[in-house]
Amino acid sequence: MVAMRGVQKHFGSLHVLQDIELEVARGEVVVVIGPSGSGKSTLCRTINRLETIDAGSIEIDGRPLPEEGKALADLRADVGMVFQSFNLFAHKTIRENVTLGPIRVRKASKADADRRADELLERVGIQAQADKYPAQLSGGQQQRVAIARALAMDPKVMLFDEPTSALDPEMIKEVLDVMVDLAKGGMTMIVVTHEMGFARTAADRVLFMADGRIVEQNTPDQFFTNPESDRAKDFLGKILKH
Ligand SMILES: Nc1ncnc2c1ncn2[C@@H]1O[C@H](COP(=O)(O)OP(=O)(O)OP(=O)(O)O)[C@@H](O)[C@H]1O
Ligand SMILES: [Mg+2]
Repeated sequence: MVAMRGVQKHFGSLHVLQDIELEVARGEVVVVIGPSGSGKSTLCRTINRLETIDAGSIEIDGRPLPEEGKALADLRADVGMVFQSFNLFAHKTIRENVTLGPIRVRKASKADADRRADELLERVGIQAQADKYPAQLSGGQQQRVAIARALAMDPKVMLFDEPTSALDPEMIKEVLDVMVDLAKGGMTMIVVTHEMGFARTAADRVLFMADGRIVEQNTPDQFFTNPESDRAKDFLGKILKH
């Protein structure tokens, strides 16, 4: 579903993505972990072309990323993205936030988009909030709206960049539960997170990045019990201690 080959990316003299080779199969869930600044967010952002790459290629479902125009808008709709900050439209209701993309980009009718939005809001457990505005919801609820909004476009793949790291502890679980559900439902997912419980429950593969490279990758079981590189051992030592 996602294929990155020989991908290179620089920010000025900083080589943030180095020789990235990554294939993610349909329905596969890949968790990306690694120290701050290792390139995890940049990796995600190149996959829906929020960042351009300097060399190499990226394909989604067998098609190279388009440069611009309608083809790029279509691609963005195929690749759902959920960030740490929810970025909901403050002056639109929860339902309107979810229907905006389908109506504008997918040309859905308002009635169809509303129906689908209510289904998705139900699925993420916040249908009762559909007529409220984002500021009236908790962080965990807003993040679940952001997930519903991405799903409303019927994406082929979902990218999550630290979706729970801005949330209070009691809200983390409700968001992770939605993500586990999605994973079990067969969604192709790339998830940057340090939530090891999620990785163990839902990931098919854990990918460890350091200094712009994929240093190692393995099943969660193998990776957490038997990390191979010193970088990964050192990193796991730090995060598992606190
Ligand atoms: N727009 C930009 N311009 C210049 N440098 C950038 C830009 N975005 C990221 N960087 C740099 O690229 C490197 C990788 O950043 P990235 O955000 O991908 O790391 P990360 O692994 O997501 O880190 P974190 O865990 O802190 O989110 C960092 O050194 C960062 O400072
Ligand atoms: Mg990041």
